[in-house]
Amino acid sequence: MLIEEYFNLKKHPFLNTVDLEFLFWSEKFREGYARLLYSILESRTGLSLILGEIGCGKTMLCHALKKDMENKGKKTSLIENPFLTPYQLLFEITKTFFGEKKRRRSKVRLYQEIEEELLKNPDEAKHVILIDEAQLLPQRTMQELRLLLNMETSEGKLLQIVLFGQTDLKKKLEKQKALKQRIGIAYNLSPLKESETDEYIKHRLKVAGADKNLFTSNAIKKLYKFTKGIPRLINIICANSLFAAFSMNKKKIDEKIVDIVVKDYKENLGEW
Ligand SMILES: Nc1ncnc2c1ncn2[C@@H]1O[C@H](COP(=O)(O)OP(=O)(O)OP(=O)(O)O)[C@@H](O)[C@H]1O
Ligand SMILES: [Mg+2]
Repeated sequence: MLIEEYFNLKKHPFLNTVDLEFLFWSEKFREGYARLLYSILESRTGLSLILGEIGCGKTMLCHALKKDMENKGKKTSLIENPFLTPYQLLFEITKTFFGEKKRRRSKVRLYQEIEEELLKNPDEAKHVILIDEAQLLPQRTMQELRLLLNMETSEGKLLQIVLFGQTDLKKKLEKQKALKQRIGIAYNLSPLKESETDEYIKHRLKVAGADKNLFTSNAIKKLYKFTKGIPRLINIICANSLFAAFSMNKKKIDEKIVDIVVKDYKENLGEW
């Protein structure tokens, strides 16, 4: 029997996938999002930075923003594997701007095409580049970003770039002072608070079709203590707890079940 069936759910509530249906607007998430929107659409500062610990929701934020930008009619490029040469970066950008069909051409030509495209709408932010896992950007490709950011009018930058990265990205930017100086906003997406961890779990269960809460409040306290509010870890512990409850033939997850799951996790994988 599937977990979904056992708990009478439409979907699994705690899969670690970027499913925007489950999006939970924590305080930090909401604020980071609002700042990005302001930076991209209003002040047009050009470069924004979202930092955060592993598993805190950077990729989720990136995908939510992409969807929103596309709904607002922006040409949005999402680069998920930024281990690209400068040429490949420019090529990826032109693919978003002009579709996939165009053939390989010189770097100078790519630049001209990008600039011509950007200058068609100098008065608004029409083009957005989102780079996830930006801590993996090679230094040379970072320099290319700086050159792209030089395209501007008196109103602001023509291209809006957002970098999403783990905290190492900060160190990498230390070697790229000229790029660092161009950052308009930098925001740290920190983990959920204890009360939000509770809301997050309830929210995901509700989206999955649960008609009642499956976790006791003590179970949630334990969960927070171990996960420190990191969504990816919360999902793992919750998913394993559902499975443990199912195998014990229980319908409610109490702190004992969470304890067993956390112990098991630590035994196999060590401390988080
Ligand atoms: N705001 C949120 N609402 C709902 N689910 C979330 C949220 N943030 C994170 N999650 C869940 O946690 C998982 C991990 O988040 P995500 O992949 O966005 O983290 P990350 O910061 O990009 O991690 P990494 O540093 O490893 O790239 C997501 O797949 C998603 O299921
Ligand atoms: Mg990520």
